Amino acid sequence: MNLWATKSITSLRAAADAEGDRSLKRTLGPLNLITLGIGAIIGAGIFVLTGVAAGQSAGPGVAISMVLAGIGCAFAGLCYAEMASAVPVAGSAYTYSYATLGELVAWIIGWDLILEYAMGAASVGVGWSATFVSFLKLFGIHLPSELTSAPFVVCSSTMVTQAVSGCSSVGWHASGAIVNLPAIFIVLLMSAILVVGIKESANFNTVMVLIKAGVLVLFVGFGFLYVKTNNWHPFIPPNTGEWGTFGWSGVLRGAGLIFFAYIGFDAVSTAAQEAKNPKRDMPIGILGSLAICTVLYVLVSLVMTGLLPYTELNVAAPVILVVERVKELAWFLPVVTIGATLGLASTIMVMLLGQSRVFYSMSRDGLLGKWAGAVHPKFRTPWLSTIYTGLAVAFFTGLFPIQILGQLVNIGTLLAFVLVCAGVWILRRTRPDLERPFRTPWVPFVPIMGILCCLGLMATLPFDTWIRLFVWLLIGFVIYFGYGRHHSVLQKEREAAATKQ
Ligand code: ALA
Repeated sequence: MNLWATKSITSLRAAADAEGDRSLKRTLGPLNLITLGIGAIIGAGIFVLTGVAAGQSAGPGVAISMVLAGIGCAFAGLCYAEMASAVPVAGSAYTYSYATLGELVAWIIGWDLILEYAMGAASVGVGWSATFVSFLKLFGIHLPSELTSAPFVVCSSTMVTQAVSGCSSVGWHASGAIVNLPAIFIVLLMSAILVVGIKESANFNTVMVLIKAGVLVLFVGFGFLYVKTNNWHPFIPPNTGEWGTFGWSGVLRGAGLIFFAYIGFDAVSTAAQEAKNPKRDMPIGILGSLAICTVLYVLVSLVMTGLLPYTELNVAAPVILVVERVKELAWFLPVVTIGATLGLASTIMVMLLGQSRVFYSMSRDGLLGKWAGAVHPKFRTPWLSTIYTGLAVAFFTGLFPIQILGQLVNIGTLLAFVLVCAGVWILRRTRPDLERPFRTPWVPFVPIMGILCCLGLMATLPFDTWIRLFVWLLIGFVIYFGYGRHHSVLQKEREAAATKQ
């Protein structure tokens, strides 16, 4: 039994190319992949967290936080692009690490990616629910708040100081709500669409991406006309004396928070096995979607903080609030509300897609049960893993508040990025001969910078989140040592080869 056994990249490629009833359909072109990336990236981060980051940490300097987080992601994105072009099979960081860092690390990453994709879908589900409530209000329909939010809140000291409702002291409190029904509804609906087919899902996603990116472009274009430049002064409000509350430390904390808005470009790599020409198109999809979103995010945050004072932006739906408050933009309110509702739905879909593909790969390797690798005979999608993922995500999105889910997503994703950057560096040394259609420039500088930026962003997250990460990884170890290592296909192959000799 070798916990560090690596898969051969040649056999990974061959297995991905093999046709059979367990194979996925290769239907995605470069444009599909870029839209898949944008579909995952633009979501609750820009529509919700920009306001929180500006109001609580960075002020108008949130635009600088955007640039910092974007640069960190670009380093990781360059590494992802090399990995996805060299190992173009489903499974993203999980598969790469299986080929580079060994089975145990691969399992850790696969388990960790659940935090990114499943918890990511759950967080955006909560954001969608808030947007949907605003959407229904346009038609005079008011849903009872007991059925549109989590049954408890987790109060921080800032929330207590700001007298947020239900926050009499720091810690967990009952919110008075019962369940977040719209969040559950949207997760189950998106799962159903994913079961029907990857091509159908990609087309549906493309339409929704055009809508949400279009809404943000219009917001920037029209919003710019009404910006009051005095709202940008001071651009970085002075620090209050507490680390992370305005000043440069606030800009850094803002970057740690807003990192969430960039998560998703890596989801492109989970679909490598469904891409027509993965070697060329994976880097295009990953880096293209990241670049487009960075430019858009910086512009949106500048316009948002230019239209209203940053002190007023710390709300659940800041983009919608800004449009409501600037009377010249009143006509735009239905457009932005509908765009955000559809936009967040597409983010949920891509996150769910990523999760089911990671399960699919883990199951084919024997580390998870066979159910997760079952491909539907007609739709050719990993339907069982999609359905089970949908049910589990529905549970979390219905019962947990966005802060808890979002912080778990950030820490889980950052850990995966660190391991991918390390993987690129290691693979350059251990397999210099490997064909790499896309090569990360300046290795090891770029992977090292990726690792440092991600660790730096992890350091801005609260201690509780670190504890949750460790508990999660511990549960993962129990499952691996109790099940995975006894069923691992790779270990069985190695044992058979050793017996033959
Ligand atoms: N980047 C995704 C979002 O902002 C996770 O919703």
